[in-house]
Amino acid sequence: MDTEPFSHRMEIRGRRRTDQRTPAGSHASDEAAQKAAMLRLTQDQMLVNQALVEKILAFEQAEAALRESERKLHDLLAHQQAAREDERKRLSRELHDTLAQNLLALRIDIVMLYQQTTRRHYRLRDRIGAALDNVDAILRSVKQLLGELRPSCLELGLMATVDMELRKFGRTSGIACDLAGEPGIDELVMDEEASLTLYRALQECLNNILRHSLASRVNVRLDIVHGMLAMRIADNGIGFDPAAVRKPGSFGLLDLHERVNGHGGSLLITSAYAHGTELVVSVPLSAPQPDGFTSE
Ligand SMILES: Nc1ncnc2c1ncn2[C@@H]1O[C@H](COP(=O)(O)OP(=O)(O)OP(=O)(O)O)[C@@H](O)[C@H]1O
Ligand SMILES: [Mg+2]
Repeated sequence: MDTEPFSHRMEIRGRRRTDQRTPAGSHASDEAAQKAAMLRLTQDQMLVNQALVEKILAFEQAEAALRESERKLHDLLAHQQAAREDERKRLSRELHDTLAQNLLALRIDIVMLYQQTTRRHYRLRDRIGAALDNVDAILRSVKQLLGELRPSCLELGLMATVDMELRKFGRTSGIACDLAGEPGIDELVMDEEASLTLYRALQECLNNILRHSLASRVNVRLDIVHGMLAMRIADNGIGFDPAAVRKPGSFGLLDLHERVNGHGGSLLITSAYAHGTELVVSVPLSAPQPDGFTSE
């Protein structure tokens, strides 16, 4: 079918050449033949057009289906993230109300036993002292676990929370950390979800810096830009190619991207081999700010 219009064109040109050689009497019949050929050509073009229209329609339908499935995937991811945070909240409440409270009660009993045991029973006293140390160690672990599940420090404000997290990271990793922010940022009021999104972003970035960057320094900066809180996390490590195909099993940044986007924010990654990495996470400031606190 593809070659037909071409052969028709050949036929028409052929007849034109014949026109020059044939007498004037056969002119009318040639014209009729030409018209018939043109008509056939138009019919073929219409068939081709129809096929094209059908193809375009099929593409449009496939594109709409793809967009719909992409939207569903975004919704599903947002739902999973919300469910994960709810589960963390429930777990941390349970841990706090049962394990931590019971451990504290146990600790009070052990302290009393220790105080009532005379120095003459030094072996028993030592055993009770060791039990007390054990309970204290378990309490520290539970507290850390509670902090990871649901950061209670968020109530202190974002700047204080980031500061605490960076100090903890600096202590355990040995990487020098620096925090800066525009004046007045410590008075910033943010809704819980936005603060939690930024906190999780910081956790993922610090985790990545520790695991992948070989950096010796991390700089974090908080600013207000066009009604958004922008958190910039920069390291002086080995860097990577953000446009490279995602490694199987690597979901941290993808997850973060979804989370920040779902919150109406954005995630910008700038990195190059041997030139470190910079991530800017921005989330909208939906909560009303104190008097005199203006965001550009
Ligand atoms: N600060 C960084 N410095 C160097 N490379 C990095 C940095 N952050 C991320 N990367 C690179 O980007 C990749 C993807 O990071 P991502 O956080 O998505 O996954 P991951 O850390 O490998 O796994 P996970 O799903 O546990 O987070 C990493 O494997 C690493 O190669
Ligand atoms: Mg990661």
